[in-house]
Amino acid sequence: MMKSKSIAAASASCFLIMSLLCNYISGDQNETNYEGLSYNYYEKTCPRLEEIVRSSISPLFAIDPTAPAALLRLMFHDCQVQGCDASILIETSGDQQFTELDSAKNFGIRKRELIGSIKTSLEVECPQQVSCSDLIILAAREAVALTGGPLIAVPLGRKDSLSTPSKHVADSELPPSTADVDSILNLFASIDMTIEESVAIMGSHSIGVTHCNNVLSRFDNENATNTNMDPRFQTFLRVVCPEFSPTSKTAEATFVPNDQTSLIFDTAYYDDSIAGRGNLRIDSEIGVDPRTRPFVEAFAADQDRFFNAFSSAFVKLSSYKVLTGNNGVVRNVCDKVD
Ligand code: HEM
Repeated sequence: MMKSKSIAAASASCFLIMSLLCNYISGDQNETNYEGLSYNYYEKTCPRLEEIVRSSISPLFAIDPTAPAALLRLMFHDCQVQGCDASILIETSGDQQFTELDSAKNFGIRKRELIGSIKTSLEVECPQQVSCSDLIILAAREAVALTGGPLIAVPLGRKDSLSTPSKHVADSELPPSTADVDSILNLFASIDMTIEESVAIMGSHSIGVTHCNNVLSRFDNENATNTNMDPRFQTFLRVVCPEFSPTSKTAEATFVPNDQTSLIFDTAYYDDSIAGRGNLRIDSEIGVDPRTRPFVEAFAADQDRFFNAFSSAFVKLSSYKVLTGNNGVVRNVCDKVD
């Protein structure tokens, strides 16, 4: 059922090279006007920004092919809590005991330090110009492009926050791993996404992994979170994630791939959803819910349509709640308020 990891790794390396050569810029740069953001924001202050981000991040992805997924999720979790302001990178300081990162819903967030590495490379050529929040977005879009997805044109000009919200804010803003179609459609509708775009942004789960602690609720019949689950896939999940306690160290250390080609950004996620092989409740329910199923089928059959809808959803997600102008700062170091 699962393709071998080595095939996936080899294909991912190919995609890494191919995407450098073949990516087309996706997204209409004139279509949308996000207040305070623009497509040529760093034209004068850091003209080689995108090039520098790409050249500093590509070797890191080659060393660890699981890093792109981590950076794509990092963007969602930064933007979802208090807006795309790089607050997820800030370590605790002063009186603040717990930051948003301490929320259990941020379990599995990793590779935050890569944003700091990119920032360090940039400071040589463009000192104190580029915000950490723009770097999170640019890193996420490279993550998509370098794993075989579209190269998305993103408007820039976000500023960083001087504070990180409490753990409680993150608890309430981030969706639970048991989220269903209703709650996800409501969440994305609140940032002006269509149903098609909402289904497309869930295609982020085309790359990466889910840890067993987030999968175990799928076996919980009372909550009916196991609809649309292929019996062979259920057996696979039970073998990889036996019934240990969701809070046990073993459950937190074991994981399953997000789809059959989890290092490559492609449409396999939608094939898996239709076939009842979604890891999370949302991954499987979008394959059967009458509101989302037509788009799941359309994306499974038409990669260009998926890439276009994903690109516009990505821009909405990353531009919805941002600090611009004098409302925020450009931090010198991404994990500190200086
Ligand atoms: C809104 C509904 C969503 C829910 C309920 C959800 C939930 C989750 C959960 C529970 C995991 C597994 C984390 C782990 O066990 O390590 C995960 C992984 C992931 N999510 Fe989501 N997610 C959602 C939307 C998104 C969006 C909008 C994006 C990106 C824009 C995204 C990107 C990812 C990626 C790339 C991974 C793999 C991370 C890795 O391999 O480190 N997710 N998600």
